[in-house]
Amino acid sequence: MTVVYEKSPAKINLLLDVLGRRDDGYHELETVMTMVDLADRLELAELPEDRVELVSQSPAIPTDERNLAHQAARLMKERFGVSKGVRITLDKRVPVAAGLAGGSGDAAAVLRGLNRMWRLGLKGEELEALGAELGSDVPYCVRGGTVLARGRGEILEDLPPPPPCWVVLARPPVSVSTTDVFARLNLVEITEHPSAERMIDALRQRSFAGVCGALGNVLEHVTLRLHPEIRQIKACMEKMGADGVLMSGSGPTVFGLVAREEKAVRIAGGLRGFCKEVYAVRLLGESPFPRG
Ligand code: C5P
Repeated sequence: MTVVYEKSPAKINLLLDVLGRRDDGYHELETVMTMVDLADRLELAELPEDRVELVSQSPAIPTDERNLAHQAARLMKERFGVSKGVRITLDKRVPVAAGLAGGSGDAAAVLRGLNRMWRLGLKGEELEALGAELGSDVPYCVRGGTVLARGRGEILEDLPPPPPCWVVLARPPVSVSTTDVFARLNLVEITEHPSAERMIDALRQRSFAGVCGALGNVLEHVTLRLHPEIRQIKACMEKMGADGVLMSGSGPTVFGLVAREEKAVRIAGGLRGFCKEVYAVRLLGESPFPRG
């Protein structure tokens, strides 16, 4: 039996700007994303029967067609006429519905893994294009590393990774719908947009202070208003000395960039008092995936 393994690291948005609403209902984005060393693990085992099975230890996710990883397997089978099946065993470690692209990352891992398992010979860009059919974050998750994403999120440009540092992640126990956050966004209210140019300059200059100074996410305008406790977590991380603090994606996870490990561990310890899901992990600026 053929078995392949994949990892799906969490993403964070160092910058997220919305430039406008599009005719297709989506928004025109400009976002800088990178990865952290907190990952789901997937085992893909070939099945002789024409079936997609998904199992996970996590009670927090659906394991049927509603799961994007399941949809990714179906898409690969149908598009390439594969009559064999697959059993996906998902070891879920990335917080769910958190703004960390956990579901998109799992779907991307299934695309990469099945490309290898079924020897489909698809190049990175072809896998990214398939990913775009599943969700706006999936093309980035296929590629990994540090990128500028534009359009719906599918136009990718590689960027240099941020200088090595630690990331404290805190996921408050509130649920946020990405669709709802985008729907509530009133662009007229946003007078100050974060500057992607400034972030890209900071990355090119390998300036940690520059990266921290250029962090920005316009979706905070919506999510922080809906859930004031996220603002508290931000304030707490700042007070404890994180060098840069921001909400990731549409939230609710807040991340803090911290230069030194001891401080990251101390901040994470302090946050655990009032937030259950807290992690201190390394930033993973370079893509761990081989580029096809
Ligand atoms: O593409 P995906 O299904 O992940 O997007 C989830 C929701 O986020 C969409 O239904 C849409 O409401 C919103 N979205 C958007 N513009 C984007 C990406 C997502 O409005 N560029």
